[in-house]
Amino acid sequence: MTLELVDVSMDYRLHGQQKRALDGVSLTVSPGEFLCVVGASGSGKSTLLSLVAGLTTPTGGEITLDGHPITGPGPDRGLVFQTGSLYPWRTVERNVAFGLELLALDTAERGRRVDWYLAETGLAGVRRSLPRQLSGGQQQRVAIARALVCEPDVLLLDEPFGALDVQTKEDMQLLIRQIWRDTGTTVLMVTHDVEEAVFLGTRVVVLASDPGRVAAETSIPLPDDRGLATKRTLAFLNLRASIEDMVRASHRSGVTR
Ligand SMILES: Nc1ncnc2c1ncn2[C@@H]1O[C@H](COP(=O)(O)OP(=O)(O)O)[C@@H](O)[C@H]1O
Ligand SMILES: [Mg+2]
Repeated sequence: MTLELVDVSMDYRLHGQQKRALDGVSLTVSPGEFLCVVGASGSGKSTLLSLVAGLTTPTGGEITLDGHPITGPGPDRGLVFQTGSLYPWRTVERNVAFGLELLALDTAERGRRVDWYLAETGLAGVRRSLPRQLSGGQQQRVAIARALVCEPDVLLLDEPFGALDVQTKEDMQLLIRQIWRDTGTTVLMVTHDVEEAVFLGTRVVVLASDPGRVAAETSIPLPDDRGLATKRTLAFLNLRASIEDMVRASHRSGVTR
């Protein structure tokens, strides 16, 4: 499934003033790719994801999945936000099963899918807990399992680990890499964290701010079986430094515009 954005722009209207959040963004996400988009706060990352999710409509350009225009949300795209997307009154397993209620599946298949994704995300032991009984990291596991259970063509991640402490964040980074390798799903993730983008991505796109636009992109030629030790290799540190330079340069050009 190929996701394509062609010359996508987004203008918001706020108190009678127009604000251009994205300006002429063109991107192709190929099947099986893990594309990370990095940019400063306000560079349009969440706007980009909500357009791909079909929650908002671009004011210019076109977004297609395998050539079909995106006209609204759908089970072909799974979405995970930073926090707060769970139903507090539903148990873990019923939160995960929620996505499936919209799909025509028989009971046995529903059960099989929920079990598989609970196991994959390490939640089998807390399946009957409520979200408030879980840690922040576990809550994000539930959000990820719920997005994956529909087996979407593209997993959309909006800074999903941004509110977690460093250790939990690294556990979650390893988990999402594992899921990506196990399922072969296509991932589009936005983050302000360059280290995270380099560690997770097969390719990184840098967004400049005001208005949000593609400033640079680079592929990440690190091995597929990445572990935390990868973050200490020279190849990783060099990639990280060069992308941090790109982010800094795009920020400066944004400021002087
Ligand atoms: N609903 C909205 N109405 C008006 N302006 C918005 C809205 N959502 C985002 N913006 C503005 O668009 C720009 C991009 O925001 P956003 O996509 O949230 O960036 P990011 O996720 O990278 O922090 C910001 O300047 C923000 O203030
Ligand atoms: Mg955001």
